[in-house]
Amino acid sequence: MPEAPMQGLLDVQGLGIRFGGLDAVKDVTASIPAGQITAIIGPNGAGKSTFFNLISGFYVPTAGTIRFRGEDVTRLKTHQVVARGVARTFQTTTIYRELSVLEGVMIGHRVRTRAGLLDALLRTGREKRDEDASRAGAMRALERVGLAPQAHRPAGALTQEGQKRVGIAMALASDPALLLLDEPAAGMNPDETVRLMALIRELVQGGLSVALVEHKMSLVMGLADRILVLHHGQLIAQGTPAEVSRDPAVITAYLGSHAHGGQMGQGVGAGHA
Ligand SMILES: Nc1ncnc2c1ncn2[C@@H]1O[C@H](COP(=O)(O)OP(=O)(O)O)[C@@H](O)[C@H]1O
Ligand SMILES: [Mg+2]
Repeated sequence: MPEAPMQGLLDVQGLGIRFGGLDAVKDVTASIPAGQITAIIGPNGAGKSTFFNLISGFYVPTAGTIRFRGEDVTRLKTHQVVARGVARTFQTTTIYRELSVLEGVMIGHRVRTRAGLLDALLRTGREKRDEDASRAGAMRALERVGLAPQAHRPAGALTQEGQKRVGIAMALASDPALLLLDEPAAGMNPDETVRLMALIRELVQGGLSVALVEHKMSLVMGLADRILVLHHGQLIAQGTPAEVSRDPAVITAYLGSHAHGGQMGQGVGAGHA
């Protein structure tokens, strides 16, 4: 098989993972370009979160390769992937309610960048020397998500929207080139969703590249430069929002999905409104 042309910030080639007899992700070849917003969509169970788990080093693929800035990162561990500039948020973020917002971001960052939990928890000599840098980095991340004024409040006092922003700040604290957002608007009302979209656009204008998994089609259609569509673990379409929303394979996939067929219909309308 010929080598795929290196075109993106992150490139996957023939990527796959099997769980038991199930191909959760199968033979996906795709690129996430620099300086853009790439959305990964697909019906429930399509393999979207698994795709993120693969490219962020949480799972080791059973087939294929992952390249970041041309470097083969297929078998690297999460903290090694983070060190190279890929950071992610989770569908649910653990918030340390008693700690301040700033401390929570510092700990979240430490857990992601150390080889082991013990290493993250022990305050080694190096850790102490790093403390000031870590605090400054966490503060910069809070500034980027608009939470600097709340830095010293208990994290538990924040609104749900605020807590989502803390999750994004935890990822930004490692100063990534590529930010992966897994369902960032889940549970948000329309106003919160609009503010989140504005934040993501600002981050990209500041030089960050973003890939996101999202069910809310209005968000995806209004925000993404490019969309990758997964179905049963396979890439069935890719292109601009306008292109994928009229792709017959995509329409069929969504119509066949009871859970999300309605959302696709809504989203196409929202995207062209
Ligand atoms: N760790 C795992 N072990 C076994 N099956 C898994 C695991 N993670 C995901 N799956 C399965 O892989 C498929 C894709 O899941 P997922 O990536 O979570 O879908 P999505 O995020 O698109 O809703 C599902 O059938 C899911 O049950
Ligand atoms: Mg998911």
